[in-house]
Amino acid sequence: MRQITFNKQNSSEIGLGTWRMGEGNDSKSKEEIKSVQYALDHGVTVLDTAEMYGDGKSETLIGKAIKGYNRSDFQLISKFYPNHATPELIKNSLENSLKRLQTDYLDLYLLHWRGATPLEETIRGLQEVQKAGYIKNWGVSNFDIADLKELNSLPGGEDCRVNEDLYNVGSRGVEYSILPWQKEHQMSFIGYSPFGSDGGDYLTIKPVLKDLAKQKHVSVHQLLLAWVLRNHDILSIPKSSTVEHLKDNLAAVDIEFTSDELELIDSEYPKPNKKTQLEII
Ligand SMILES: NC(=O)c1ccc[n+]([C@@H]2O[C@H](COP(=O)([O-])OP(=O)(O)OC[C@H]3O[C@@H](n4cnc5c(N)ncnc54)[C@H](OP(=O)(O)O)[C@@H]3O)[C@@H](O)[C@H]2O)c1
Repeated sequence: MRQITFNKQNSSEIGLGTWRMGEGNDSKSKEEIKSVQYALDHGVTVLDTAEMYGDGKSETLIGKAIKGYNRSDFQLISKFYPNHATPELIKNSLENSLKRLQTDYLDLYLLHWRGATPLEETIRGLQEVQKAGYIKNWGVSNFDIADLKELNSLPGGEDCRVNEDLYNVGSRGVEYSILPWQKEHQMSFIGYSPFGSDGGDYLTIKPVLKDLAKQKHVSVHQLLLAWVLRNHDILSIPKSSTVEHLKDNLAAVDIEFTSDELELIDSEYPKPNKKTQLEII
């Protein structure tokens, strides 16, 4: 698996998203556990979850899947609700997440989206749990450029390691200012929902993508993922609850585009030429 620098360390380019995992029956959960384990066995070094996902069911499923794996071989990301963003509630949420995940630390703990709690308070809460050794580092999610700049201007805010935003061929707004700003500030970018989420509800697949996938003898999903990874400098976290989908996705890292192909995609899914409102799922 091709490597990138993520969270200031070596990482696979693809992490595994786990939203909606652990919410089905026993046989579905078994299939999802196999998928998480297949990912870890085949070079994926980042797992993404949140206390929100199935009210802890995704974390519980990951806890079962990672038993027996060397914890330092992969990075575990979880997120807390904005209404849990005070020091006391962060500690409480984190304790519950660690219990469900059956681990004693997270590599990254993210504010899931911005709420009413002042960022100063959230930074203080994160510093406390980091000092206590429960998290290695912390970050944010669904932050727009103004939020990132504000966070960065606060004492301790410059320690924010990552920002996780929606990024796929149909949602390119982050390319305008967020991606360049994060690169300049050495803050890793995590792009979520590369396929437009479950059922592709948030992404319209136009004929150009189907035609290009056919020409390149790849699936449309592989094309979508390869496009997100085309510059080899961000982490994408597709969710795949079957080994079959996962195999497909892991193979997508080898797909390259010619400049003509990229221009063709740009003509149907244009690059942003001005600031647009951050899209959120
Ligand atoms: N921070 C945030 O606010 C936020 C928001 C949304 C998502 N996320 C994170 O990002 C992750 C990914 O986003 P997402 O779950 O919204 O959606 P996604 O990864 O864009 O799409 C997942 C869907 O694509 C299907 N799929 C995966 N690989 C496929 C393949 N090769 N061929 C055909 N279908 C395929 C999956 O089916 P199967 O499950 O059957 O494999 C599932 O239905 C989440 O799981 C979560 O960890 C974060």
